[in-house]
Amino acid sequence: MKVHTARFICSSPSVDKCPNPSLPEYALIGRSNVGKSSFLNMLSGHKGLAKISGKPGKTRLINHFLLNEDFYIADLPGYGFAKASKKEVAKWDLMIRNYILKRANLMTLFLLVDSRLEPQKNDLSFMEWLAISRIPFVILFTKTDKLRKTQLPANIDRYERTLLQSWEEVPLHIPTSSLAAKGKEEVLAYIAETNTLFHDSLRHTP
Ligand code: GTP
Ligand code: MG
Repeated sequence: MKVHTARFICSSPSVDKCPNPSLPEYALIGRSNVGKSSFLNMLSGHKGLAKISGKPGKTRLINHFLLNEDFYIADLPGYGFAKASKKEVAKWDLMIRNYILKRANLMTLFLLVDSRLEPQKNDLSFMEWLAISRIPFVILFTKTDKLRKTQLPANIDRYERTLLQSWEEVPLHIPTSSLAAKGKEEVLAYIAETNTLFHDSLRHTP
């Protein structure tokens, strides 16, 4: 799939303010500064679409983008932002968990994790919550351009081994780099295929 058009739709403070759920939707989630907004810009081929920052905590609302006038991508605020107060963390938690559980058109959550780091506790516990909540997700390893060639497979292997301690099967995971446009084809192919499921399910609704 090629992305021909990409535009910002709106920023929403809660799930009930999000756009009409009439198109399939994918959301980007992960720790603050992991590269969610950069990934969206790379995927869409529009460098300035989502705002990027060296400072964590840039994205505070649910930001909807429409690609090819056919599917939404929601850029979510990051978690694990060290400077956030307890109150802010609780607010984030409520907003995000509500969005994930109630967003009817959400097809898959892309959970971004930094390929350089060892598995982080908050990512692992978040994945467990997704599994319990029966939310499909795909892990995207980010910033792979910052690793040496041999380090990437070693880190992915370490991640897989950690996951296998609590998972029967390793969830789908794709190495990416927004700098090198790595993983773009794979993720767009995944989206194209998953979009058909949304349209099929509508066709079968009586
Ligand atoms: P929040 O909105 O704060 O949660 O952050 P975010 O996850 O949206 O991260 P963002 O895309 O703003 O990127 C954070 C920093 O990482 C920026 O300085 C980016 O330039 C850098 N970055 C993101 N992706 C990549 C990548 O693939 N490679 C490299 N080298 N740097 C990246
Ligand atoms: Mg962001």
